[in-house]
Amino acid sequence: MVKIGKSNVESTPLGLGTNAVGGNNLFPNLKDETGIQIVKTGLDSGITLLDTAFAYGMGHSEELIGQAIKGYDRSKFVIATKAAQDTSDGDVKINNNPQFLKKSVDDALKRLQTDYIDIFYIHFPDDQTPKDEAVAALNEMKQEGKIKAIGVSNFSLDQIKEANKDGLVDVVEDQYSLLHRDAETEMFDYLRENNISFVPFFPLASGLLTGKYSEVVDFPENDIRHGNPDFTGERFEKIVEKVNNLKPLADKHGITTAQLVLAWYIKNPDVTVVIPGAKRPEQVQSNAKALNVSLSDEEYAQIDNDFRNI
Ligand SMILES: NC(=O)c1ccc[n+]([C@@H]2O[C@H](COP(=O)([O-])OP(=O)(O)OC[C@H]3O[C@@H](n4cnc5c(N)ncnc54)[C@H](OP(=O)(O)O)[C@@H]3O)[C@@H](O)[C@H]2O)c1
Repeated sequence: MVKIGKSNVESTPLGLGTNAVGGNNLFPNLKDETGIQIVKTGLDSGITLLDTAFAYGMGHSEELIGQAIKGYDRSKFVIATKAAQDTSDGDVKINNNPQFLKKSVDDALKRLQTDYIDIFYIHFPDDQTPKDEAVAALNEMKQEGKIKAIGVSNFSLDQIKEANKDGLVDVVEDQYSLLHRDAETEMFDYLRENNISFVPFFPLASGLLTGKYSEVVDFPENDIRHGNPDFTGERFEKIVEKVNNLKPLADKHGITTAQLVLAWYIKNPDVTVVIPGAKRPEQVQSNAKALNVSLSDEEYAQIDNDFRNI
């Protein structure tokens, strides 16, 4: 188990990303029943962290998770959710106002049908709210027992420092994968020095790092992968070649390429919890097996180097 920042929250080093659970605004053709099965399969497979957000289906992901967790012992898993999207005027505005964040915690608790949220992230920074004031509002929620750990997501290092002025930030969630390594130079030193956990999003590069792609796919406009430069042109070709090169090492371990890649994050000292998403329960079941994979230092370094300049 790993600990989240300075909080008492603990998790398996592999969790479940749920933007495809009720995230109808991010992917086409999602079915609620499949989403519920994805969550249950995660918990049944020994995964103990569920990563969701208001923005996934504008509350729908949280609602489905609320349904899925009925019958499970709440003390045995942790829920992370996020807010910042203010829809009160009809359109979506990013809002870190203290009152708005407190209301967001209360609203999320209702949708999740639970008494507390283990990790609550400010999903995106706004332009006007001092970040330490936004975090202070979440700290009040923490004192009231409504949340247990404070996180920020999509914040620059300067914004993280401002948010953490009083040392209250437990965890940062940001894009990081074998293909996107900016966080290594931008923030890992600060996070390490300040006992802040790191949760990378898009760890499988939206599926590219599973090794299942050989041809360019034209994703529909209502799919978040539409227009993603990793999935087009020469960059796509180069990524596919690198990912295919992982196959012999995966074969040596008797595992899939996705499990090998997930095991790399689990061994990565700067990654606290890796949260691959899934569209089908079988993917969750398979990804959870990465918890049993152990890479040698040499294997870890080989993968690290192979993807260093991509
Ligand atoms: N904080 C933020 O702003 C932010 C932003 C983005 C995401 N997130 C969080 O991070 C999580 C992870 O990101 P993500 O889900 O978008 O991307 P990801 O984890 O990089 O990729 C997940 C996708 O890969 C495919 N996949 C997963 N396991 C597989 C397997 N074993 N074999 C073959 N294909 C497999 C599935 O898509 P297909 O079946 O369609 O290929 C799945 O939806 C999200 O679910 C969300 O919780 C947070």
